[in-house]
Amino acid sequence: MRILRAFLGVTFVYAGVQKFLDASFLHSGTPGYIGNQLRAFAQGSPIGPVISALAHVAPLTGVAIALIEIAVGIGTLLAIAPITSAAIGLGINLVLFLSATWHVHPYFLGSDSIYAVAWGAYLAGLITARRAELERAAPLPPRHRAIVEQEIARRRFLRGATLVAGSFLLGIAGSVLAGKPPRTSVLGGETPGSPTENGHTPRPNGTRSPHGGGAPTTEPTAPAGTPIARLDSVPVGGAVPFHDPSQGPAVLCRLGTDKVAAYSRVCTHAGCLVDFDPGSGVLFCPCHGAEFDPKRGAQVIGGPAPVPLPAIPVTIDHQTGEVLAKE
Ligand code: FES
Repeated sequence: MRILRAFLGVTFVYAGVQKFLDASFLHSGTPGYIGNQLRAFAQGSPIGPVISALAHVAPLTGVAIALIEIAVGIGTLLAIAPITSAAIGLGINLVLFLSATWHVHPYFLGSDSIYAVAWGAYLAGLITARRAELERAAPLPPRHRAIVEQEIARRRFLRGATLVAGSFLLGIAGSVLAGKPPRTSVLGGETPGSPTENGHTPRPNGTRSPHGGGAPTTEPTAPAGTPIARLDSVPVGGAVPFHDPSQGPAVLCRLGTDKVAAYSRVCTHAGCLVDFDPGSGVLFCPCHGAEFDPKRGAQVIGGPAPVPLPAIPVTIDHQTGEVLAKE
């Protein structure tokens, strides 16, 4: 119980504060914006309509989630309303399991299921301990009972006030320290693509993408044999977005003077759109931090994604100087 309490408590405080420290989390127009994440999570989730509704008030939802996480974390660590804290923690991870990691296959690669189990076990332990405590307690004379109840109410109030004040203080401190958004969207993608008619485009690893292949898009669509971009319009070490008819949102990376590679932009973790970081030359996912190396077949080099991004065959037409989607 102590191990669970310490781990879950610290993790939730960290998760909440980290959201305030991440300047892009509440910043519309950046890849890590909470609104983008909510819209991606809603696609194909059994609680999609609820998540979509929350996406309409994304900044408010983001602040509320972060504050609740901090409050649950502090409550768990300091044993302030521990049963309520554990029940809310369990609820949060169940919601995340049904949305953020619902598409992860197999399920054990997504972290929210095991967090929900940990909260459930911890909650059951707390309830058992509370029952045993009540059974052991000797009945008090009525006069003493009134004094004890008064004292309990006073302590509850003080602890609740500490919890609320601590959550707001940590939230404000995180926002003050956050600074400017570190990464701006190079490829765009604040608004994820809409699903296809049947709702999804199957992905090679068997999971389902919330970003459908038939999505309306402003990016150039490149059926096989047609040009994606002129080679000289993409700087060496740069990338441009395009739309692949079968994979949906995609990215063309120029790896060298005469070397290009193209990949689906749909993250293999939970389906957010990956972006390109020109500084490090990696494709990164704003939702949970997955990183893919475009030079090595978009292999996973960081974060929770289970498999590389699907590759899209492309070729350079040296006569016209164009990069073509391969037949
Ligand atoms: Fe989770 Fe990309 S969707 S890391």
